[in-house]
Amino acid sequence: MMDGEKPIFGVIMGGYTRPSWAFLLLVFTVIAVSCLQITTKTVFPIWVVSNSEKTGLSDTGGRPSCAGFFRHGPPRKTVMSITDFGGIGDGKTSNTVAFRLAIRHMQSFAEKGGAQLNVPRGRWVTGSFNLTSNFTLFLQEGAVIFGSQDPEEWPITEPLPSYGRGRERLGGRHISLIHGDGLTNVVITGQNGTIDGQGKMWWELWWNRTLKHTRGHLLEFMNSHNVLISNLTFLNSPFWTIHPVYCSNVVIKDMTILAPLNAPNTDGIDPDSCIHVCIEDCYIESGDDLVAVKSGWDQYGINMARPSSNIIIRRVLGTTPTCSGVGIGSEMSGGISNVTIEDLHVRDSAAGVRIKTDQGRGGYIANITIRNITMERVKVPIRFSRGANDHPDEGWDPKAVPKVKGIFITNVVSLNSIKAPILEGLENAPFEGICMKNVSILGLAPSVRWNCEHVLGFTDGVTPMPCPQLLNNSSSSWCSYS
Ligand SMILES: *[C@@H]1O[C@H](CO)[C@@H](O)[C@H](O)[C@H]1NC(C)=O
Ligand SMILES: *[C@@H]1O[C@H](CO)[C@@H](O)[C@H](O)[C@H]1NC(C)=O
Ligand SMILES: *[C@@H]1O[C@H](CO)[C@@H](O)[C@H](O)[C@H]1NC(C)=O
Ligand SMILES: *[C@@H]1O[C@H](CO)[C@@H](O)[C@H](O)[C@H]1NC(C)=O
Ligand SMILES: *[C@@H]1O[C@H](CO)[C@@H](O)[C@H](O)[C@H]1NC(C)=O
Ligand SMILES: *[C@@H]1O[C@H](CO)[C@@H](O)[C@H](O)[C@H]1NC(C)=O
Ligand SMILES: *[C@@H]1O[C@H](CO)[C@@H](O)[C@H](O)[C@H]1NC(C)=O
Ligand SMILES: *[C@@H]1O[C@H](CO)[C@@H](O)[C@H](O)[C@H]1NC(C)=O
Ligand SMILES: *[C@@H]1O[C@H](CO)[C@@H](O)[C@H](O)[C@H]1NC(C)=O
Ligand SMILES: *[C@@H]1O[C@H](CO)[C@@H](O)[C@H](O)[C@H]1NC(C)=O
Ligand SMILES: *[C@@H]1O[C@H](CO)[C@@H](O)[C@H](O)[C@H]1NC(C)=O
Repeated sequence: MMDGEKPIFGVIMGGYTRPSWAFLLLVFTVIAVSCLQITTKTVFPIWVVSNSEKTGLSDTGGRPSCAGFFRHGPPRKTVMSITDFGGIGDGKTSNTVAFRLAIRHMQSFAEKGGAQLNVPRGRWVTGSFNLTSNFTLFLQEGAVIFGSQDPEEWPITEPLPSYGRGRERLGGRHISLIHGDGLTNVVITGQNGTIDGQGKMWWELWWNRTLKHTRGHLLEFMNSHNVLISNLTFLNSPFWTIHPVYCSNVVIKDMTILAPLNAPNTDGIDPDSCIHVCIEDCYIESGDDLVAVKSGWDQYGINMARPSSNIIIRRVLGTTPTCSGVGIGSEMSGGISNVTIEDLHVRDSAAGVRIKTDQGRGGYIANITIRNITMERVKVPIRFSRGANDHPDEGWDPKAVPKVKGIFITNVVSLNSIKAPILEGLENAPFEGICMKNVSILGLAPSVRWNCEHVLGFTDGVTPMPCPQLLNNSSSSWCSYS
């Protein structure tokens, strides 16, 4: 056992809090005792286990649901609490060691029926920790996990290969508060418990230009399969809040995600080079896109060629005064296709749905279905833009132009809008196959016109009168889907 613990000692000694040897001894004793409990089957009350079962995806009252995207296993056989690992929920003590020990311990049950770690009511401060496979992190009612205010408790990790560097700074990036790499079958849920990244310190580092490495996410999954994130409140992420990257079969539902409306880059959910992702019934309020679908950045994303595909974003409600309800891009170099955005309700925001790309991105955005979107007081309800003018380094290829084709937009109502759609494609790569039906942009001054450049498509039942580029009245059969 001691051999296996060595890396943890390294982290402890290099980190911010240095627990006494007496405390470590206590922790190990507690573990030994809990192992004993497990082998003698005196585990935890049955109701805790059945609670985790109730995260089932069937209870949607006949509405479409994410059910097909996540495969539920049987309840985890082993259930323990963070307090079994010396955790102290007093809002002051660092629980980094406790969480890391707990996960290390629970890893050993991955092939023995899986494990669930309960976080009870309390205020649990922690640095970053990794999750494991066949595992449930369960935040009970009143449980709040707080991200440490010590940047060293968010160690630097490798940049993503599809970005070639940290998104904000060259080199490595701070690891997310809760992190998973190469995992299968992971659930993070609970009775609306909270994970609070306490991002203010990080936003200030960004604002005052003293940030050394790219900020960490609140939760990141990499290279993982069959992941469910539900029934929790996530607050104040330093950077993008939930970032699944190189993942498949990810469900994010019944989440509340909040950050101050001026907090920089606090996107809600960013599926990035992922396939089969379903997001539904979320309320999101933040300083950046509520949801942004991505797939890598310029030459790094092009080389990695990991698309985002088969993504559903449904029944999301929220506000973002400077960004969009749903964004596609601007990092899209691995390609993005088969995205459905439906039953979206965006209020008091800069844009409703926005497609963003640029010269040098390469890749494609294809077959995007956007339907039943309600907007209130959204400045630019529908926006396509180029000119992100944001490249990882000088190695980007100006000839790598993105292909945008097949954007189907139906049943949109925008109330109290300020501008008509702004649709700007690339001169050397017009956006084509844009189909809009039954789109009403209301509340505009009579003089307001659509603004279109380098776009081609068809419209029907659209007010106010769209730009001529979208009045392609011949051969509109490609736009005749429901
Ligand atoms: C997870 O559990 C399943 C079913 O028991 C098992 O087949 C698989 O090997 C486990 N995964 C890991 C990584 O241990
Ligand atoms: C968490 O996983 C990352 C790799 O994904 C690794 O670099 C890091 O050391 C791990 N942290 C801990 C505390 O095990
Ligand atoms: C989800 O949160 C609600 C409200 O706190 C709670 O009643 C319900 O039991 C939670 N569901 C699960 C599966 O924990
Ligand atoms: C969960 O908690 C958040 C924050 O307190 C609250 O806004 C939200 O309504 C709660 N969700 C449920 C389902 O109770
Ligand atoms: C920048 O913000 C950080 C975090 O709040 C703070 O510790 C630091 O003193 C600030 N630096 C400057 C130059 O304002
Ligand atoms: C898009 O969806 C269609 C129909 O479900 C499927 O045939 C196609 O393979 C998907 N494309 C990608 C890139 O996943
Ligand atoms: C477009 O995507 C939808 C789902 O997002 C899928 O049903 C359809 O088959 C796709 N079409 C093509 C041509 O891939
Ligand atoms: C449209 O979306 C809203 C949520 O914004 C939902 O309440 C409504 O049922 C949806 N309508 C249809 C026809 O699906
Ligand atoms: C047009 O869209 C609105 C808003 O989604 C919807 O209520 C209405 O039924 C749609 N009309 C048609 C003819 O589909
Ligand atoms: C009409 O739209 C189709 C599909 O986007 C395109 O191939 C064709 O060139 C367009 N025709 C005109 C006259 O714009
Ligand atoms: C399409 O129809 C509109 C209005 O009916 C007309 O103004 C426009 O010139 C037509 N466009 C083409 C390419 O025929």
